Amino acid sequence: MIRGVTGLSNEIVENVFLFIAAISVSILVLITFLMIYFSIRYRRKRNPQPEDIRGNLWLEILWTVIPTLLVLAMFYYGWTGFRSLKKIPEGAFKVKVAARQWSWLFEYENGVKTEELMVPVGKPIHLLLTSQDVIHSFYIPAFRVKQDAVPGMVTPLWFKAKEVGTYDVLCAEYCGQQHAYMLTKVKVLSEEEFNQWYEGKGKGLQIEKSRGLPRGPQLLQEKGCVVCHSLDGTTRIGPTLKGLFGKTVIVLTDGKERKMQADDAYLKKSLVEPNGDVVTGFPPIMPSQKGLSTEEEINELIRYMKELK
Ligand code: CUA
Repeated sequence: MIRGVTGLSNEIVENVFLFIAAISVSILVLITFLMIYFSIRYRRKRNPQPEDIRGNLWLEILWTVIPTLLVLAMFYYGWTGFRSLKKIPEGAFKVKVAARQWSWLFEYENGVKTEELMVPVGKPIHLLLTSQDVIHSFYIPAFRVKQDAVPGMVTPLWFKAKEVGTYDVLCAEYCGQQHAYMLTKVKVLSEEEFNQWYEGKGKGLQIEKSRGLPRGPQLLQEKGCVVCHSLDGTTRIGPTLKGLFGKTVIVLTDGKERKMQADDAYLKKSLVEPNGDVVTGFPPIMPSQKGLSTEEEINELIRYMKELK
């Protein structure tokens, strides 16, 4: 039955839910039955003169005590369940989760970054949620976990996957125009497969690091640019990056239209102060890369954008 204090997040949430649902349905059935029964039993035809009833102590006690106990039981199971959802098991596998408009980025302890969350089966996973811009909400329906990701704050969350498989991750807090597209997956691998993946990726990262900075295409992915800016000329929520460098663009600066050339200075300003000059026809909603990207990363992004002819 109820396992309030330990167990998987799924079981905790489901048990509490079923417990409350069972009580609610029983009360609904009881009340509906009594309502129908009384209206037939005490209908006017059979009781033309209503009786004047002046209270019943035992009845009063009963219908105060029973609901109080039921509600306290709901509270107890809810509370112990909530506590164990909040208590992160020791030795849990840590993953940092960054939410931003409009994608997720997962960073593992070995420095590897991914867009889909990779985890080993049967191990507690400790997520450290944060946001780079507005409030998002990290939600894995299959594991019954949901938690806000708030800028300037790290919020913990944990879960354990019982079976190997792929599960949906959603954003459950309206966070702007592309909120509905903040979808990704949790991939639960067997421990062996996971270790292989983790070590392989870790080594790959070391090799990349020894070669220097991550390259443009990877940066565009990691920084989440490609959610809004295509590389192939199609228009998304922002202008395409294809053929952008050197082009003449019409922008709104302080509400006034002006022509600008998309040169180095323009691209740089667009990255750190994106809403200074906004290309006409697009909403001024791009988050700034200030503090999120290093000088070198910005230079590499610009260098790569020049290649996108
Ligand atoms: Cu992020 Cu909704």
